[in-house]
Amino acid sequence: MALKKLVAGNWKMHGLSSDLAEIKAIADAASTFPGVDVALCVPAILIERAARAVPNFPIGGQDVHHAEKGAHTGCVSAQMLLDAGASLTIVGHSERRDAQRESDSEVKAKAEAALSCGLSVILCVGESLETRKAGQAVQTVAAQVDASLPDGEGAAAGVPARLAIAYEPIWAIGTGEVASPDDIGEMHAALRARLVAAYGDAGDQVRILYGGSVKAGNAAEIFAVPDVDGALVGGASLKADDFVPIIAAAQPAGAVEAERSIA
Ligand code: 13P
Repeated sequence: MALKKLVAGNWKMHGLSSDLAEIKAIADAASTFPGVDVALCVPAILIERAARAVPNFPIGGQDVHHAEKGAHTGCVSAQMLLDAGASLTIVGHSERRDAQRESDSEVKAKAEAALSCGLSVILCVGESLETRKAGQAVQTVAAQVDASLPDGEGAAAGVPARLAIAYEPIWAIGTGEVASPDDIGEMHAALRARLVAAYGDAGDQVRILYGGSVKAGNAAEIFAVPDVDGALVGGASLKADDFVPIIAAAQPAGAVEAERSIA
């Protein structure tokens, strides 16, 4: 049976108090699609206000520090995210891997810290345009996943159900370019194989999201690709009018696993 799809918005560095009404509009609309898990990952400073505004809707962070506490100026711990009302966090987004020079091992440590605190995690991977043009996309991203995946012991504690991988080709982020269904299918199949290698049968429970210029107009085609278990959406998640049709496209016609939830 197909995994319940997760459609998560990544608001990046967007969001003020005046946008809480938009978050409320998205949460209200999401509740009318019970076959889809929906979440919004907002700037850390907005989490608490967003979580108060939409108490039954999953609000997440966009990054987390791997340490529990300490001398890490400007950073936010997993416990702080939870304390503010978050139920999930993104780790390893390419914008951070690039600008903050985050390594695979650092991303892995962040994912483990968040999971062990009880947060769900969306772990991002993706290749550059040069890597894709060189025909190295699948092996590069598979290696990234191998090196950033939280350790397998967690599988016994139900970690795969709280973990999602987001495949986001860097060249497709914010550009209007989208990977072809064939390329997405090839990559997601390779990622599924890596997840099963890491977690055994539980690897089949990890949702694999696609991200990169997902819009209302292309969502249905992307969601129809095997092993696409949802989407991580940037620009088109900022407004309910743009985001809700993407959620609608993920609503299944048939049965899905009933028990999944990001929260
Ligand atoms: P866009 O949907 O704006 O391309 O952003 C994708 C992304 O980076 C989500 O994390």
